[in-house]
Amino acid sequence: MESSKSRVKDPLVNDGIFFGGDYNPEQWDRETWLEDVELMARARVNLVSVGIFSWSRLEPEEGRFDFAWLDEVLQLLYDRGVYVDLATATASPPAWLIKKDPTVLPVDHEGRRLSFGARQSYCPNSQSFRSAASSLVERLVDRYSDFPGLKMWHVSNEYGCHVSRCYCENCEAKFRSWLLKRYGSIDLLNHAWGSAFWSQLYGNFDEVNPPRIAPTFANPTQQLDYYRFASDSIRELYEMESEIIRRRSSKPITTNYMGFFKGVDQFAWRGVGDFVSFDSYPDPHAGEVHVDCAAGYDLTRSVAEGEPWILMEQAPSAVNWRGINGVKKPGQMRALSMSAVARGANGVMFFQWRAAKAGAEKFHSAMLPHTGPDSRIYREVTQLGEDLTKLSSVVRAKVNAEVAIVFDWNNWWAIELDSHPTDHVLYLLAIRKFYGSLQRLGVTCDFVSPSDDLSSYKAIVAPNLYLCSHDFAERIARYVEGGGSVLGTYFSGIVDENDHIVLGGYPGYLRDVFGVVVEEFSPLRPGESFEFTFANNPVVRRGTIWSEIVRATTASVLAKAVQLGDVESIPGDPTSGVLFENQFGNGRALYLSTEVEDDFLDLVVQRLLGEGGDGVTNENVEVVQRGEFTFVINHGGHVEFSLNRRCRDLLSGMELAEGVSLKPYDVLVLEDV
Ligand code: GAL
Ligand code: ZN
Repeated sequence: MESSKSRVKDPLVNDGIFFGGDYNPEQWDRETWLEDVELMARARVNLVSVGIFSWSRLEPEEGRFDFAWLDEVLQLLYDRGVYVDLATATASPPAWLIKKDPTVLPVDHEGRRLSFGARQSYCPNSQSFRSAASSLVERLVDRYSDFPGLKMWHVSNEYGCHVSRCYCENCEAKFRSWLLKRYGSIDLLNHAWGSAFWSQLYGNFDEVNPPRIAPTFANPTQQLDYYRFASDSIRELYEMESEIIRRRSSKPITTNYMGFFKGVDQFAWRGVGDFVSFDSYPDPHAGEVHVDCAAGYDLTRSVAEGEPWILMEQAPSAVNWRGINGVKKPGQMRALSMSAVARGANGVMFFQWRAAKAGAEKFHSAMLPHTGPDSRIYREVTQLGEDLTKLSSVVRAKVNAEVAIVFDWNNWWAIELDSHPTDHVLYLLAIRKFYGSLQRLGVTCDFVSPSDDLSSYKAIVAPNLYLCSHDFAERIARYVEGGGSVLGTYFSGIVDENDHIVLGGYPGYLRDVFGVVVEEFSPLRPGESFEFTFANNPVVRRGTIWSEIVRATTASVLAKAVQLGDVESIPGDPTSGVLFENQFGNGRALYLSTEVEDDFLDLVVQRLLGEGGDGVTNENVEVVQRGEFTFVINHGGHVEFSLNRRCRDLLSGMELAEGVSLKPYDVLVLEDV
């Protein structure tokens, strides 16, 4: 019998994988709509997201609604078997609303009001925006909740994408009430903000402002609280629209997240909406595109608490918004899409269906390019549509990861604030490095937030955990005591949730679990490094970015510095340890005190995993287990490998055993026979 953990909950279990993309019929005439639905049907599109940027068409002037065109489009789609992910159309307010109340426009941290004429030109705390958006959503839901082609609701679009923090007067007032709620009294705020420093003490909440441009560094806790407040403010919008929908419709609700995006704490948004969706835009010119993609997919599954999610947007090929917009190679779009399915997606969608003729995105790729259907991209889209019809049995299966990386938005905000020892410790780079190492070792991982249960994981990795509350440190300690393994790195356990240093030696509340005390640290300049050796191995390794003087209290020293690169500028101790291992209760804690090269990182991660790490597999061949299905995706050149069992490939229908050869971007979805 299968445990409930390995089976999915509703609402994404339909009769297969959703396939389609954003559809913007408001940019086209009726004749084009007719061609669209034909070509969609040919490509086996079964879902499109409609209306995301249609507010000015749906409500051309205040209170005057025009739904006739949308009625017609939705019916045309439905007649061809294409369901709708109906947008609430609130992602970009119309010009009339701005004219009526210019304070809808957001203000940046230098006090400049941003103009209309792009998109997302609203302050999340504008009451005018909120009421206009609510009345539009009410009308939409009233009109379409019984439409038989409606599959789900798409609330707004990429919340926070262009404006994640607004600094206007509305926001100032809201920030004050948010602070009052958080601290209850001005004394507690003063304490939390350490405002005895630089004469910042406040007498009451009315004196407190957002951290706008100031003579020099703004109070760090004020900045940290502003990140929290801003993420909460935008979440309120999602809640507001969801509540309106929920009162009138039973269809599932989602909004499309942007993965590792700093402005929105997705873990703190859990519980709003019914399922999670994600927009994935890796740079095809980047080195390991598939690893970047996979990290976003795994984060999304983790935000979804293991339930299926939808890849709501990706580019069929190039985007339009980088300096140089690389195209996806033939087959690459399919491979990256299959990786999403492998990692828990029950929908593969694109931005967008038909390439735009006008506007800022006219050079963005689309499922149907400017050239029309006689094109590489449309052919690849059609192929993918057909392939996905063969994977309907996958939708009920879940991915179960045994290893997790701690990922905390609060830590991200805090560790990258100003006036730190260095601005070269970048949280996402650390996360990406450890993620990359786990991928090279063939290990699928989840991401966990400090409030998640750790107990089901064999090992957790917590890089650069600068901000670590007493509570989280305790939970890490209990986890290790109970037999778990943890790997931490430098500049961890430095501050509590208020960004106050935990005194008595770093890593603060984590000292006991790691069995080390860091007395002093010293950042290195670009190009600077120091040397260390591991165990009794004479091979010299390099540490960069950071060095520190670490003493073991109860840990054993596995790697030691041998010589510092530039003695004059590094107050490091050549005998200081670099890698430590501490037995703590029934578990182990590893501590790494500098930034290391990938091959050494892999050794450290393997040591953490113990028995589990099989050593580096082929890093371009992605192997992921989703329930009983094994996905094998080749992101590199031609490769041969052997299977140790008889399998059937769901895509080709062929039975395979022993020797298998894969061309670039080949995909297998294997099931045991
Ligand atoms: C996303 C957005 C889409 C489209 C796309 C282009 O950020 O949600 O509307 O702009 O980027 O890559
Ligand atoms: Zn504002």
